Amino acid sequence: MKKDKGELLLETREFFERVATEYSSDSKEGDELKLGMLRELAKEGDSLLDIGCGNGYFIDRALAETSINQVYGLDISKAMLKLNNKVPNKYLCQASALQLPFQPHSFTFTHFDAMLHHVVGARRKSSVEQAYKVIQSSVSVTKTNGFLVLTERCIDTRISSNLIFYALKFLSKTPLAKLAGVAKGLIVSFLTPDEFLSGIRAAGASIVRIEVTHAKPSFLFRLALEPSCQSLQLSLEEVYGFYRGGVNLV
Ligand SMILES: C[S@@+](CC[C@H](N)C(=O)[O-])C[C@H]1O[C@@H](n2cnc3c(N)ncnc32)[C@H](O)[C@@H]1O
Repeated sequence: MKKDKGELLLETREFFERVATEYSSDSKEGDELKLGMLRELAKEGDSLLDIGCGNGYFIDRALAETSINQVYGLDISKAMLKLNNKVPNKYLCQASALQLPFQPHSFTFTHFDAMLHHVVGARRKSSVEQAYKVIQSSVSVTKTNGFLVLTERCIDTRISSNLIFYALKFLSKTPLAKLAGVAKGLIVSFLTPDEFLSGIRAAGASIVRIEVTHAKPSFLFRLALEPSCQSLQLSLEEVYGFYRGGVNLV
């Protein structure tokens, strides 16, 4: 039977409830770039929302190292939120990126990092649509003169993305999962850099600055697909960007 969006969200949530500690990071490539820009742009009284905040290390740093003085961390997983340090002026909320519980134009900055590829539909095509909805909502909750600060792990071609999506969809449910080193319940849908940037433009945000770095697709080694990946020359690209957001809503 076909799964509806709600069930797929629950599966993602259950996955992160199980692996919270494993997926918890304290620093990432690109943090300095993003924090540097936030130091330049932020003023007293500014706020930042982090969607899929995980253990909240990024919002903690934004609060400590920039003029931002209110941070909001949202995550679908309670286990992830529990890993957050308690800090004054930091507010946490368990919710889905697809249903942000905030009024339009609420935040000066909206951030997400490594969250979008976890928003999946039943097929790769509907996963892209869902990802676009999340980008649209991120723009909506950002103030008119605010910024989106987004990092997403993208993949070079749609073929590669389809391959990974359907391989995981199949493997993650079978006893082969352990053999192939796939974490149970993990399904991801990577956008290509073009799809990611198109989604941002379609949501009405304009691009201020983009950095792209090439990362070794380490998780693919866990998929035991290394030889075919190499021949397909898969490469993952981290796309960091600052986007001027907060379009007026109709
Ligand atoms: C790979 S972790 C990244 C965490 C953090 N942003 C970082 O860079 O360390 C992805 C995070 O996104 C969250 N997430 C996945 N799907 C989500 C959704 N639909 N809504 C909100 N959070 C979601 C997960 O619970 C997890 O904390």
